Amino acid sequence: MDKFIIEGGIPLNGEVHISGSKNAALPILCSSILADDICTYTNIPALRDISTITEVLSTLGMGIERPCNGCIVIDPRTTSSYEAPYELVKSMRASILVLGPLLAKYKKAKVSLPGGCAIGVRPIDMHLKALTKMGANITLSHGYVMAFTEGLKGTRIVFDTPTVGGTENIMMAASLAEGTTVIEGAAKEPEVVDLAYALIAMGAQIDGAGQSTITIDGTPSLSGLEYRVIPDRIEVGTFLIAGAITKGDLILKDARADHVVAVVDKLLEMGVAINQREDGSLHVDGKHDLLPVQVDTVPYPGFPTDMQAQIMALACITPGTTSITENIFENRFMHVPELVRLGGRLEEKGHTVIVQGVEQFQGASVMATDLRASASLVLAALNARGLTEIRRIYHLDRGYENLDQKLVKLGARVRRERGGL
Ligand code: EPU
Repeated sequence: MDKFIIEGGIPLNGEVHISGSKNAALPILCSSILADDICTYTNIPALRDISTITEVLSTLGMGIERPCNGCIVIDPRTTSSYEAPYELVKSMRASILVLGPLLAKYKKAKVSLPGGCAIGVRPIDMHLKALTKMGANITLSHGYVMAFTEGLKGTRIVFDTPTVGGTENIMMAASLAEGTTVIEGAAKEPEVVDLAYALIAMGAQIDGAGQSTITIDGTPSLSGLEYRVIPDRIEVGTFLIAGAITKGDLILKDARADHVVAVVDKLLEMGVAINQREDGSLHVDGKHDLLPVQVDTVPYPGFPTDMQAQIMALACITPGTTSITENIFENRFMHVPELVRLGGRLEEKGHTVIVQGVEQFQGASVMATDLRASASLVLAALNARGLTEIRRIYHLDRGYENLDQKLVKLGARVRRERGGL
């Protein structure tokens, strides 16, 4: 397994290009199942999660081509299987996003249950309940979701808590269902909105994406499309913190400032200088004194759970006491003991971590545990005095495109060592 060796304490400077959004690309690629013709997507990041989902689609018989950097062309006309096997689903929960489209288009699907993951149990009960209400017959058998329908029908779906994947699965299924589906309590994340735009480009009739009520009028068929995926807002947030934690000066090109308002507001409250330039890029100047804050993760448009670990790294070198509460996932503090190994002063109290600022991290050997936790360790290492070795960085390769190369271009001393534990 690859590891990163990082020599910290160097301010990052320069321009970084933000890649396409992983969490928008995953459902959008799945939505190609619904189409009757070729789907061409651009701004798709080169990530392990993207390879996993294209492998799932290829297993279904769909034609997949990558004619240029960042583009994927999918031919759904050769679909011949309706099964997403355990070997692929186990490595990525988002594979469950093929369930809604398969059911809507082919009236049957067999998808492995994702099982637990590093950040908690993460059930899919809300997906299954909603599809059942739309007329799917679903049973769980030998670790698989077995689903068939005589035809999905529009209905009123109420999610008790917003679910990103659930909203996406139902929006896709409803686009080809008979009649009107109304989703109440829908997730409002930009990735949900991007999927809605992609579906609309295929001919779907969707109203209200980005709000808590989404209305979908089903259509009998959907066409192919050409579609460009939005930039990755979590990568934007991570680089803003990279600028702040190294006391650097960065320009983030191709970012969508309107997708990171809560993160920018929190960093401004911490004393980080951030502004949007005329060309739309974001400028972060990390040379200012930092101030402690309180962070609560909430569904969009609030502060995202996917930035909780990264802001915790910044809180560790912020004078005073910062309190960070995780409200979305029950087990998303695995970076805490690793940040302690790097010299952070953190105390976990249930869903909250109390952070007492120290002057600087100190290099140490640490272990990456999940995607965003790994990003927080990289950020801490960039700040740290001396060398940090981060093992198991395959988690980072799932969700950050060329992170080591991007950091090196900004002046960081990051080396990837291949192989080993
Ligand atoms: N939940 C249920 N039942 C369900 C669905 C969700 O109890 O049927 C719970 C989850 O366990 C969690 C909460 O509801 O506690 C929210 O889960 P949600 O369904 O919104 O999350 P997701 O769709 O599984 C996506 C992102 C995550 C991100 C969350 C929250 C993708 C592929 N994944 O997951 O991204 O943290 O929304 O914003 O879009 C990441 O990129 O590192 C990542 C984990």
